Amino acid sequence: MLISAPPGTKDILPEISTHWQHIEDTIRQICRQAAYLEIRTPIFEQTELFSRGIGETSDIVEKEMYTFTDRGGRSLTLRPEGTASTVRAYLENKLYASTNQPLKVYYIGPMFRSERPQAGRYHQFHQFGLEAIGSREAVVDAEIISLAALFFKKLKLKDLTLYINSVGCPQCRPNYRTKLQDFLRDKLPCLCKNCQSRFDRNPLRILDCKNNECGNLSQNAPEMLQCLCDECGGHFEKVQKLLKSANIDFQIDPHMVRGLDYYTKTAFEIQSTNLGAQNTICGGGRYDGLVAECGGEPTPGIGFAIGLERTMIALEKQGILPKIDTSVQVFVAPIAEGAREAAFKLVYELRQNNIIADMDHMGRSLKSQMRYANKYPAKYVAVIGEDELKSGQVTIKNMATGEQQTTDAAQLMTIFSKGQEDL
Ligand code: HAM
Repeated sequence: MLISAPPGTKDILPEISTHWQHIEDTIRQICRQAAYLEIRTPIFEQTELFSRGIGETSDIVEKEMYTFTDRGGRSLTLRPEGTASTVRAYLENKLYASTNQPLKVYYIGPMFRSERPQAGRYHQFHQFGLEAIGSREAVVDAEIISLAALFFKKLKLKDLTLYINSVGCPQCRPNYRTKLQDFLRDKLPCLCKNCQSRFDRNPLRILDCKNNECGNLSQNAPEMLQCLCDECGGHFEKVQKLLKSANIDFQIDPHMVRGLDYYTKTAFEIQSTNLGAQNTICGGGRYDGLVAECGGEPTPGIGFAIGLERTMIALEKQGILPKIDTSVQVFVAPIAEGAREAAFKLVYELRQNNIIADMDHMGRSLKSQMRYANKYPAKYVAVIGEDELKSGQVTIKNMATGEQQTTDAAQLMTIFSKGQEDL
């Protein structure tokens, strides 16, 4: 019996992976332009990092983590996100002392959450994340948001809306929490079971419930923006002003709360109309308490993560997946007994000279090699038959014009190396 991939996971097959590479190239280009360097952290971490960092009462920690005990009896967890790991690496490697501040890093890689799989929601998915650690300035919030916007702009993705909010800080949030609880108290029996259990532990999450009844009941709930302290209010004003100055469109969503508990002040999401129920393509915000929560000196931070599967789905729905380039410059076709060795040698030489080359590996006839070469497509086919073997030459055919000429390997290399392929 065939063994299938685990539920909620997907193979990224060869042709599709070229689309992924296009997305990754775009990420690396943007990060280079904005001076963010790549960070690569382990796929698994000590479980405590996430329970402390993301928050014991978050859905992720309560029910979505892949946690296991290793042979040494340690509790480890496959990373459900990249922010906590980045903060751990920042502290463990003392990056606050050794690099320019703020630390500006990005990551691309798989994350793991055991949510019920559906379109756009998987057990293993990929994120592109950006984190800037060490600055309180609103201009960093604006930079982070602008780079998420730039990513989608470079990919030419449309029908996106950027929502921003402020979720306050430990000074002003308790006051809002009490106001929200006061508002929801008499509605408690009508809320879903999940929200009833959130009422004491994490009432802000009730605002994010997808249940229609809960949504209706919390519609007129008080807004965090009305409860912000001067510091948080002023910060939010500055972020808006900066975004406007760069013509980055946004809407304020006063009920937006994020699913992770570490957020303070700015929170934001980008939603796409192409994604159905799982319409959030990017989520992020400030986390000024997380570094201290992980054992460091109080240090501010902000970042975002973009779901790459959701990005791919949106690109596909809009019909703007980039064209795949699988072409080769030269396809070498051995057609005589003993020509295979000469072909192999030539292909190896071509590749050493940075020329994209391939050859027949199936013992095909000349006709079917030509057909195969056209599928790539190949710009030239280099035929090695009896005559060529004797003379040490190859016959080169331009597949577009049909023109042919016989040349030796050294000359061929010179022509291709100089980029003068038009024989
Ligand atoms: P998040 O909102 O949990 O934030 O995830 C960010 C994005 O990852 C989502 O908007 C979505 O596109 C994608 N995503 C999340 N879960 C899944 C899933 N099960 N299947 C497919 N895609 C998914 C974070 O992870 C924070 N660490 C973002 C951040 C960075 N905040 C500050 N810095």
